[in-house]
Amino acid sequence: MTETILRGRVLSFRSEPAHYDDMDSFLYIEDGAVHIAGGKIVSVGAFDPKAGEGATVVDHRPHLIVPGFIDTHAHFPQMQVIASWGATLLDWLEKYTFPEETRFSDPEHAATIAGHFLDTLAAHGTTTAAVYCTVHPQSAEAFFTEAERRNMAMIAGKVMMDRNAPKGLLDTPESSYDDSKALIGKWHGRGRALYAITPRFAITSTPEQLEMAEALVREHPDCYLQTHLSENKAEIELTRQLYPGARDYFDVYESYGLLGAKSLFGHAIHLTKREQKRMAETDSVAVFCPTSNLFLGSGLYDEAGLRADGVRRAIATDVGGGTNYSMLRTLDEGYKVLALRGQRMDPLHSFYWATLGNAHALSLEDRIGTLAPGSNADIAVLDSRATPVMALRMERVKSLQEELFLLQTLGDDRAVAETYVDGRPVKNCASSADRSG
Ligand code: GUN
Ligand code: ZN
Repeated sequence: MTETILRGRVLSFRSEPAHYDDMDSFLYIEDGAVHIAGGKIVSVGAFDPKAGEGATVVDHRPHLIVPGFIDTHAHFPQMQVIASWGATLLDWLEKYTFPEETRFSDPEHAATIAGHFLDTLAAHGTTTAAVYCTVHPQSAEAFFTEAERRNMAMIAGKVMMDRNAPKGLLDTPESSYDDSKALIGKWHGRGRALYAITPRFAITSTPEQLEMAEALVREHPDCYLQTHLSENKAEIELTRQLYPGARDYFDVYESYGLLGAKSLFGHAIHLTKREQKRMAETDSVAVFCPTSNLFLGSGLYDEAGLRADGVRRAIATDVGGGTNYSMLRTLDEGYKVLALRGQRMDPLHSFYWATLGNAHALSLEDRIGTLAPGSNADIAVLDSRATPVMALRMERVKSLQEELFLLQTLGDDRAVAETYVDGRPVKNCASSADRSG
Protein backbone atom coordinates (compact mmCIF):
# COMPACT_ATOMS: atom_id res chain seq x y z
CA MET A 1 0.00 0.00 0.00
CA THR A 2 1.43 3.40 -0.97
CA GLU A 3 1.74 5.75 1.97
CA THR A 4 2.14 9.48 1.63
CA ILE A 5 2.70 12.29 4.08
CA LEU A 6 1.71 15.76 2.97
CA ARG A 7 3.65 18.41 4.84
CA GLY A 8 2.38 21.97 5.06
CA ARG A 9 0.06 24.26 6.96
CA VAL A 10 -2.95 22.11 7.77
CA LEU A 11 -6.44 23.57 8.13
CA SER A 12 -9.59 21.54 8.76
CA PHE A 13 -12.89 22.57 10.36
CA ARG A 14 -14.45 20.78 13.30
CA SER A 15 -17.70 22.72 13.43
CA GLU A 16 -19.47 25.75 11.99
CA PRO A 17 -17.60 28.91 13.09
CA ALA A 18 -19.82 31.03 15.31
CA HIS A 19 -18.00 34.29 14.62
CA TYR A 20 -14.97 35.90 12.90
CA ASP A 21 -12.51 34.74 15.58
CA ASP A 22 -13.98 31.34 16.48
CA MET A 23 -10.66 29.54 16.98
CA ASP A 24 -12.35 26.44 18.44
CA SER A 25 -14.11 25.69 15.18
CA PHE A 26 -11.03 24.46 13.33
CA LEU A 27 -7.73 22.64 13.56
CA TYR A 28 -4.72 24.57 12.32
CA ILE A 29 -1.16 23.25 12.43
CA GLU A 30 1.65 25.52 11.20
CA ASP A 31 4.03 22.66 10.34
CA GLY A 32 1.54 19.87 9.90
CA ALA A 33 1.45 16.42 8.38
CA VAL A 34 -1.45 14.60 6.76
CA HIS A 35 -0.64 10.91 6.62
CA ILE A 36 -2.43 9.06 3.82
CA ALA A 37 -2.65 5.32 3.21
CA GLY A 38 -4.96 3.45 0.85
CA GLY A 39 -6.79 6.61 -0.17
CA LYS A 40 -7.73 7.42 3.42
CA ILE A 41 -6.37 9.89 5.94
CA VAL A 42 -4.84 7.86 8.76
CA SER A 43 -3.55 10.69 10.95
CA VAL A 44 -3.13 14.45 11.13
CA GLY A 45 -0.66 16.17 13.43
CA ALA A 46 2.57 18.08 13.75
CA PHE A 47 5.20 17.02 11.21
CA ASP A 48 7.65 14.58 12.76
CA PRO A 49 10.64 13.64 10.58
CA LYS A 50 10.93 10.30 12.41
CA ALA A 51 7.29 9.28 11.97
CA GLY A 52 5.78 7.42 9.01
CA GLU A 53 8.89 5.56 7.96
CA GLY A 54 8.62 4.29 4.41
CA ALA A 55 6.07 6.90 3.49
CA THR A 56 6.77 9.39 0.72
CA VAL A 57 6.88 12.92 2.10
CA VAL A 58 5.55 15.65 -0.20
CA ASP A 59 6.59 19.03 1.10
CA HIS A 60 3.90 21.59 0.33
CA ARG A 61 5.23 24.29 2.67
CA PRO A 62 4.32 27.17 2.84
CA HIS A 63 0.99 26.24 1.27
CA LEU A 64 -2.27 25.49 3.06
CA ILE A 65 -3.53 21.91 3.04
CA VAL A 66 -7.34 21.89 3.24
CA PRO A 67 -10.09 19.37 2.45
CA GLY A 68 -11.03 19.31 -1.23
CA PHE A 69 -13.83 21.73 -2.07
CA ILE A 70 -17.38 20.49 -2.52
CA ASP A 71 -19.70 21.96 -5.17
CA THR A 72 -23.32 21.16 -4.35
CA HIS A 73 -24.93 22.17 -7.67
CA ALA A 74 -23.46 22.14 -11.18
CA HIS A 75 -24.45 21.12 -14.72
CA PHE A 76 -21.70 19.21 -16.54
CA PRO A 77 -23.40 19.51 -19.99
CA GLN A 78 -23.16 23.30 -19.78
CA MET A 79 -19.38 23.57 -20.31
CA GLN A 80 -20.08 25.08 -23.74
CA VAL A 81 -22.93 27.23 -22.42
CA ILE A 82 -21.03 29.10 -19.69
CA ALA A 83 -20.53 32.76 -20.65
CA SER A 84 -23.57 33.07 -22.92
CA TRP A 85 -24.63 36.68 -23.29
CA GLY A 86 -27.67 38.71 -22.45
CA ALA A 87 -30.39 36.52 -20.99
CA THR A 88 -32.35 35.77 -17.85
CA LEU A 89 -33.25 32.28 -16.72
CA LEU A 90 -36.10 31.23 -19.03
CA ASP A 91 -34.72 32.72 -22.25
CA TRP A 92 -31.22 31.56 -21.30
CA LEU A 93 -32.55 28.00 -21.08
CA GLU A 94 -34.42 28.29 -24.37
CA LYS A 95 -31.77 30.12 -26.37
CA TYR A 96 -28.53 28.54 -25.17
CA THR A 97 -28.92 25.69 -22.70
CA PHE A 98 -31.59 23.45 -24.17
CA PRO A 99 -30.06 23.41 -27.69
CA GLU A 100 -26.65 22.56 -26.22
CA GLU A 101 -28.04 19.79 -24.02
CA THR A 102 -29.61 18.04 -27.05
CA ARG A 103 -26.05 17.12 -28.13
CA PHE A 104 -25.74 14.76 -25.19
CA SER A 105 -27.77 12.06 -26.90
CA ASP A 106 -24.34 11.22 -28.35
CA PRO A 107 -22.51 9.10 -25.76
CA GLU A 108 -19.11 10.01 -27.17
CA HIS A 109 -19.78 13.71 -26.81
CA ALA A 110 -21.10 13.11 -23.30
CA ALA A 111 -17.95 11.19 -22.34
CA THR A 112 -15.64 13.87 -23.75
CA ILE A 113 -17.38 16.70 -21.90
CA ALA A 114 -17.69 14.66 -18.69
CA GLY A 115 -13.92 14.09 -18.75
CA HIS A 116 -13.23 17.78 -19.30
CA PHE A 117 -15.65 18.70 -16.53
CA LEU A 118 -14.12 16.40 -13.92
CA ASP A 119 -10.56 17.44 -14.79
CA THR A 120 -11.62 21.10 -14.61
CA LEU A 121 -13.16 20.59 -11.18
CA ALA A 122 -9.98 18.91 -9.96
CA ALA A 123 -7.86 21.75 -11.35
CA HIS A 124 -9.97 24.13 -9.26
CA GLY A 125 -9.57 22.07 -6.08
CA THR A 126 -13.08 20.61 -6.17
CA THR A 127 -13.20 16.92 -5.40
CA THR A 128 -16.94 16.25 -5.00
CA ALA A 129 -19.96 17.76 -6.76
CA ALA A 130 -23.71 17.27 -7.08
CA VAL A 131 -24.20 17.28 -10.83
CA TYR A 132 -27.07 17.47 -13.30
CA CYS A 133 -26.62 15.40 -16.44
CA THR A 134 -29.07 15.78 -19.37
CA VAL A 135 -32.33 13.97 -20.02
CA HIS A 136 -30.39 11.29 -21.90
CA PRO A 137 -29.52 8.30 -19.70
CA GLN A 138 -26.32 7.93 -21.72
CA SER A 139 -25.16 11.32 -20.36
CA ALA A 140 -25.39 10.02 -16.79
CA GLU A 141 -23.77 6.76 -17.83
CA ALA A 142 -20.87 8.71 -19.35
CA PHE A 143 -20.54 10.97 -16.32
CA PHE A 144 -20.43 8.15 -13.76
CA THR A 145 -18.01 6.19 -15.93
CA GLU A 146 -15.58 9.11 -16.15
CA ALA A 147 -15.92 9.84 -12.41
CA GLU A 148 -15.19 6.19 -11.63
CA ARG A 149 -12.05 6.28 -13.83
CA ARG A 150 -10.86 9.18 -11.69
CA ASN A 151 -12.04 7.71 -8.38
CA MET A 152 -13.97 10.91 -7.69
CA ALA A 153 -16.90 10.96 -5.25
CA MET A 154 -19.69 12.35 -7.42
CA ILE A 155 -23.42 12.71 -6.93
CA ALA A 156 -25.30 12.87 -10.23
CA GLY A 157 -28.50 12.05 -12.00
CA LYS A 158 -30.24 11.95 -15.33
CA VAL A 159 -32.52 14.97 -15.63
CA MET A 160 -36.24 14.17 -15.74
CA MET A 161 -38.11 16.58 -18.06
CA ASP A 162 -41.21 15.85 -20.12
CA ARG A 163 -42.54 19.25 -21.22
CA ASN A 164 -41.64 22.84 -22.14
CA ALA A 165 -38.40 21.95 -23.91
CA PRO A 166 -37.35 20.89 -27.44
CA LYS A 167 -38.35 17.41 -28.57
CA GLY A 168 -34.81 16.08 -28.39
CA LEU A 169 -34.78 16.90 -24.71
CA LEU A 170 -38.00 15.29 -23.54
CA ASP A 171 -38.60 11.97 -21.84
CA THR A 172 -41.96 10.65 -20.60
CA PRO A 173 -43.09 9.94 -17.05
CA GLU A 174 -42.60 6.22 -17.67
CA SER A 175 -39.25 6.41 -19.46
CA SER A 176 -37.88 8.86 -16.87
CA TYR A 177 -38.84 6.42 -14.12
CA ASP A 178 -37.40 3.40 -15.94
CA ASP A 179 -34.16 5.12 -16.94
CA SER A 180 -33.59 6.64 -13.49
CA LYS A 181 -34.35 3.32 -11.82
CA ALA A 182 -31.86 1.47 -14.03
CA LEU A 183 -29.17 4.09 -13.37
CA ILE A 184 -29.78 3.90 -9.61
CA GLY A 185 -29.49 0.12 -9.75
CA LYS A 186 -26.22 0.31 -11.63
CA TRP A 187 -24.51 3.30 -10.05
CA HIS A 188 -25.84 4.30 -6.62
CA GLY A 189 -23.25 3.17 -4.07
CA ARG A 190 -20.93 1.69 -6.71
CA GLY A 191 -17.42 2.81 -5.73
CA ARG A 192 -17.76 6.48 -4.86
CA ALA A 193 -20.83 7.16 -7.02
CA LEU A 194 -24.11 8.34 -5.52
CA TYR A 195 -27.35 8.94 -7.38
CA ALA A 196 -29.55 12.02 -7.34
CA ILE A 197 -33.11 11.73 -8.62
CA THR A 198 -33.23 14.87 -10.78
CA PRO A 199 -36.54 16.37 -11.93
CA ARG A 200 -35.14 19.56 -13.55
CA PHE A 201 -37.82 21.89 -12.13
CA ALA A 202 -41.59 22.15 -11.94
CA ILE A 203 -41.86 23.91 -15.31
CA THR A 204 -40.35 21.00 -17.24
CA SER A 205 -42.17 18.22 -15.39
CA THR A 206 -45.85 17.31 -15.70
CA PRO A 207 -47.69 16.27 -12.54
CA GLU A 208 -47.48 12.69 -13.85
CA GLN A 209 -43.69 12.94 -13.99
CA LEU A 210 -43.44 14.37 -10.48
CA GLU A 211 -45.49 11.35 -9.35
CA MET A 212 -42.77 9.18 -10.86
CA ALA A 213 -40.11 11.19 -9.04
CA GLU A 214 -42.09 10.65 -5.85
CA ALA A 215 -42.15 6.89 -6.46
CA LEU A 216 -38.38 6.86 -7.03
CA VAL A 217 -37.75 8.85 -3.83
CA ARG A 218 -40.01 6.49 -1.87
CA GLU A 219 -38.33 3.39 -3.32
CA HIS A 220 -34.79 4.78 -2.90
CA PRO A 221 -34.76 6.94 0.24
CA ASP A 222 -30.96 6.81 0.39
CA CYS A 223 -30.65 8.55 -3.00
CA TYR A 224 -30.53 12.33 -3.27
CA LEU A 225 -33.18 14.50 -4.87
CA GLN A 226 -32.01 17.64 -6.69
CA THR A 227 -34.03 20.30 -8.44
CA HIS A 228 -34.42 24.07 -8.82
CA LEU A 229 -36.58 26.31 -6.65
CA SER A 230 -37.59 29.98 -6.81
CA GLU A 231 -34.64 31.24 -8.81
CA ASN A 232 -36.38 33.88 -10.90
CA LYS A 233 -39.65 35.83 -10.70
CA ALA A 234 -40.91 34.81 -14.18
CA GLU A 235 -40.15 31.17 -13.35
CA ILE A 236 -42.19 31.43 -10.15
CA GLU A 237 -45.14 32.96 -12.02
CA LEU A 238 -45.11 30.26 -14.73
CA THR A 239 -44.90 27.57 -12.05
CA ARG A 240 -47.93 29.09 -10.34
CA GLN A 241 -49.86 28.87 -13.63
CA LEU A 242 -48.78 25.28 -14.26
CA TYR A 243 -49.59 24.13 -10.71
CA PRO A 244 -52.57 26.35 -9.77
CA GLY A 245 -53.49 24.13 -6.82
CA ALA A 246 -50.16 24.59 -5.05
CA ARG A 247 -49.88 27.08 -2.18
CA ASP A 248 -46.47 28.20 -3.49
CA TYR A 249 -43.49 26.87 -5.48
CA PHE A 250 -42.13 24.72 -2.66
CA ASP A 251 -45.59 23.23 -2.18
CA VAL A 252 -45.41 21.76 -5.69
CA TYR A 253 -42.46 19.64 -4.59
CA GLU A 254 -44.00 19.02 -1.19
CA SER A 255 -47.20 17.67 -2.69
CA TYR A 256 -45.11 15.03 -4.48
CA GLY A 257 -43.15 14.02 -1.39
CA LEU A 258 -39.86 15.40 -2.66
CA LEU A 259 -38.71 17.18 0.51
CA GLY A 260 -36.23 15.85 3.04
CA ALA A 261 -32.71 15.72 4.37
CA LYS A 262 -31.33 14.43 1.07
CA SER A 263 -33.18 17.01 -1.04
CA LEU A 264 -31.12 19.80 -2.60
CA PHE A 265 -32.99 22.87 -3.85
CA GLY A 266 -30.88 25.04 -6.15
CA HIS A 267 -31.19 28.83 -5.71
CA ALA A 268 -34.08 29.16 -3.20
CA ILE A 269 -34.01 32.94 -3.52
CA HIS A 270 -37.56 34.32 -3.56
CA LEU A 271 -39.12 32.29 -0.77
CA THR A 272 -42.09 33.07 1.41
CA LYS A 273 -41.94 32.65 5.15
CA ARG A 274 -44.07 29.51 4.82
CA GLU A 275 -41.65 27.99 2.34
CA GLN A 276 -38.65 28.68 4.56
CA LYS A 277 -40.45 27.20 7.52
CA ARG A 278 -41.28 24.03 5.58
CA MET A 279 -37.70 23.79 4.31
CA ALA A 280 -36.50 23.89 7.92
CA GLU A 281 -39.10 21.42 9.19
CA THR A 282 -38.20 18.91 6.49
CA ASP A 283 -34.39 19.38 6.74
CA SER A 284 -34.32 20.30 3.05
CA VAL A 285 -31.23 22.12 1.75
CA ALA A 286 -31.24 25.59 0.13
CA VAL A 287 -28.30 25.84 -2.29
CA PHE A 288 -26.81 29.31 -2.78
CA CYS A 289 -25.44 29.82 -6.32
CA PRO A 290 -23.99 33.35 -6.23
CA THR A 291 -22.17 33.63 -9.57
CA SER A 292 -25.24 32.32 -11.37
CA ASN A 293 -27.67 34.51 -9.45
CA LEU A 294 -25.68 37.62 -10.34
CA PHE A 295 -24.98 36.59 -13.95
CA LEU A 296 -28.61 35.77 -14.77
CA GLY A 297 -29.88 38.66 -12.65
CA SER A 298 -31.98 36.23 -10.65
CA GLY A 299 -31.87 37.86 -7.23
CA LEU A 300 -30.07 37.97 -3.90
CA TYR A 301 -30.09 34.87 -1.68
CA ASP A 302 -31.09 35.62 1.90
CA GLU A 303 -28.49 33.74 3.93
CA ALA A 304 -29.34 35.41 7.25
CA GLY A 305 -33.08 34.89 6.78
CA LEU A 306 -32.67 31.21 5.93
CA ARG A 307 -30.27 30.72 8.82
CA ALA A 308 -32.64 32.46 11.25
CA ASP A 309 -35.43 30.13 10.12
CA GLY A 310 -33.20 27.09 10.66
CA VAL A 311 -32.88 26.07 7.00
CA ARG A 312 -29.89 23.89 6.05
CA ARG A 313 -27.76 25.72 3.52
CA ALA A 314 -25.09 24.90 0.94
CA ILE A 315 -23.07 26.87 -1.61
CA ALA A 316 -22.39 25.97 -5.24
CA THR A 317 -21.18 27.17 -8.65
CA ASP A 318 -24.24 26.28 -10.78
CA VAL A 319 -21.96 26.15 -13.83
CA GLY A 320 -22.93 27.05 -16.61
CA GLY A 321 -25.51 29.57 -15.34
CA GLY A 322 -22.71 30.14 -12.87
CA THR A 323 -19.64 31.79 -14.32
CA ASN A 324 -16.74 30.01 -12.68
CA TYR A 325 -15.72 26.48 -11.68
CA SER A 326 -13.80 27.80 -8.69
CA MET A 327 -15.30 27.61 -5.22
CA LEU A 328 -12.94 30.48 -4.31
CA ARG A 329 -14.56 32.68 -6.96
CA THR A 330 -17.95 31.43 -5.75
CA LEU A 331 -17.20 32.44 -2.16
CA ASP A 332 -16.07 35.85 -3.37
CA GLU A 333 -19.30 36.45 -5.29
CA GLY A 334 -21.26 35.05 -2.34
CA TYR A 335 -19.65 37.64 -0.10
CA LYS A 336 -20.76 40.37 -2.52
CA VAL A 337 -24.34 39.07 -2.79
CA LEU A 338 -24.63 39.08 0.99
CA ALA A 339 -23.05 42.54 1.14
CA LEU A 340 -25.85 43.80 -1.13
CA ARG A 341 -28.26 42.34 1.43
CA GLY A 342 -26.43 44.09 4.28
CA GLN A 343 -25.13 40.72 5.50
CA ARG A 344 -21.57 39.58 6.26
CA MET A 345 -19.90 36.30 5.39
CA ASP A 346 -16.71 35.95 7.44
CA PRO A 347 -13.65 34.13 6.09
CA LEU A 348 -13.73 31.20 8.50
CA HIS A 349 -17.35 30.66 7.64
CA SER A 350 -16.60 30.82 3.91
CA PHE A 351 -14.01 28.08 4.04
CA TYR A 352 -16.12 26.02 6.43
CA TRP A 353 -18.99 26.30 3.95
CA ALA A 354 -17.01 25.15 0.91
CA THR A 355 -15.68 22.13 2.83
CA LEU A 356 -17.31 20.69 5.95
CA GLY A 357 -20.48 22.80 5.64
CA ASN A 358 -21.23 21.47 2.17
CA ALA A 359 -20.32 17.96 3.35
CA HIS A 360 -22.95 18.33 6.10
CA ALA A 361 -25.48 19.54 3.53
CA LEU A 362 -24.84 16.33 1.59
CA SER A 363 -24.82 14.20 4.79
CA LEU A 364 -21.28 13.10 3.86
CA GLU A 365 -19.37 14.76 6.72
CA ASP A 366 -18.04 11.40 7.89
CA ARG A 367 -16.20 10.97 4.57
CA ILE A 368 -15.35 14.29 2.94
CA GLY A 369 -14.98 18.00 3.69
CA THR A 370 -12.62 17.24 6.56
CA LEU A 371 -9.06 16.01 7.17
CA ALA A 372 -10.16 13.96 10.18
CA PRO A 373 -8.59 10.47 10.33
CA GLY A 374 -10.79 7.92 8.59
CA SER A 375 -12.04 10.32 5.93
CA ASN A 376 -11.21 10.08 2.24
CA ALA A 377 -7.98 11.74 1.19
CA ASP A 378 -9.62 14.33 -1.07
CA ILE A 379 -7.48 17.40 -0.51
CA ALA A 380 -6.68 20.81 -1.99
CA VAL A 381 -3.33 22.57 -1.53
CA LEU A 382 -3.71 26.34 -1.66
CA ASP A 383 -1.01 28.85 -2.56
CA SER A 384 -1.81 32.29 -1.14
CA ARG A 385 1.02 33.84 -3.19
CA ALA A 386 0.00 32.25 -6.50
CA THR A 387 0.04 35.53 -8.43
CA PRO A 388 2.11 38.71 -8.05
CA VAL A 389 -1.03 40.55 -6.94
CA MET A 390 -1.70 37.96 -4.23
CA ALA A 391 1.94 37.86 -3.13
CA LEU A 392 2.02 41.62 -2.70
CA ARG A 393 -1.19 41.64 -0.68
CA MET A 394 0.12 38.75 1.45
CA GLU A 395 2.90 41.06 2.70
CA ARG A 396 0.26 42.85 4.78
CA VAL A 397 -1.64 39.77 5.98
CA LYS A 398 -1.48 39.24 9.74
CA SER A 399 -3.90 36.42 10.48
CA LEU A 400 -5.31 33.20 9.07
CA GLN A 401 -8.66 34.91 8.56
CA GLU A 402 -7.04 37.65 6.48
CA GLU A 403 -5.20 35.05 4.42
CA LEU A 404 -8.39 33.09 3.76
CA PHE A 405 -10.19 36.25 2.73
CA LEU A 406 -7.34 37.10 0.34
CA LEU A 407 -7.57 33.59 -1.14
CA GLN A 408 -11.31 33.88 -1.75
CA THR A 409 -11.16 37.44 -3.04
CA LEU A 410 -8.14 37.15 -5.34
CA GLY A 411 -7.78 33.40 -5.82
CA ASP A 412 -8.90 31.02 -8.55
CA ASP A 413 -7.48 27.81 -10.03
CA ARG A 414 -4.02 29.39 -10.02
CA ALA A 415 -4.17 29.34 -6.22
CA VAL A 416 -4.69 25.57 -6.23
CA ALA A 417 -1.14 24.20 -6.19
CA GLU A 418 -2.28 20.58 -6.12
CA THR A 419 -5.42 18.51 -5.71
CA TYR A 420 -5.49 15.01 -4.27
CA VAL A 421 -8.32 12.63 -5.07
CA ASP A 422 -8.44 9.40 -3.12
CA GLY A 423 -4.90 10.12 -1.94
CA ARG A 424 -3.37 10.69 -5.36
CA PRO A 425 -2.25 13.97 -6.96
CA VAL A 426 -4.41 14.80 -9.97
CA LYS A 427 -3.70 18.39 -10.90
CA ASN A 428 -0.07 18.25 -11.93
CA CYS A 429 -0.19 15.21 -14.15
CA ALA A 430 -1.08 14.86 -17.84
CA SER A 431 -4.51 13.30 -17.38
CA SER A 432 -5.91 12.19 -14.07
CA ALA A 433 -7.92 9.46 -15.80
CA ASP A 434 -4.70 7.87 -17.13
CA ARG A 435 -3.55 7.15 -13.63
CA SER A 436 -6.47 5.10 -12.40
CA GLY A 437 -6.48 1.34 -12.20
N1 GUN B 1 -33.63 25.91 -13.84
C1 GUN B 1 -33.94 24.84 -14.61
N2 GUN B 1 -32.87 24.41 -15.29
C2 GUN B 1 -31.85 25.22 -14.95
C3 GUN B 1 -30.47 25.29 -15.33
O1 GUN B 1 -29.96 24.51 -16.12
N3 GUN B 1 -29.74 26.29 -14.75
C4 GUN B 1 -30.27 27.17 -13.87
N4 GUN B 1 -29.49 28.11 -13.35
N5 GUN B 1 -31.55 27.14 -13.51
C5 GUN B 1 -32.33 26.18 -14.03
ZN1 ZN C 1 -28.85 24.64 -11.86
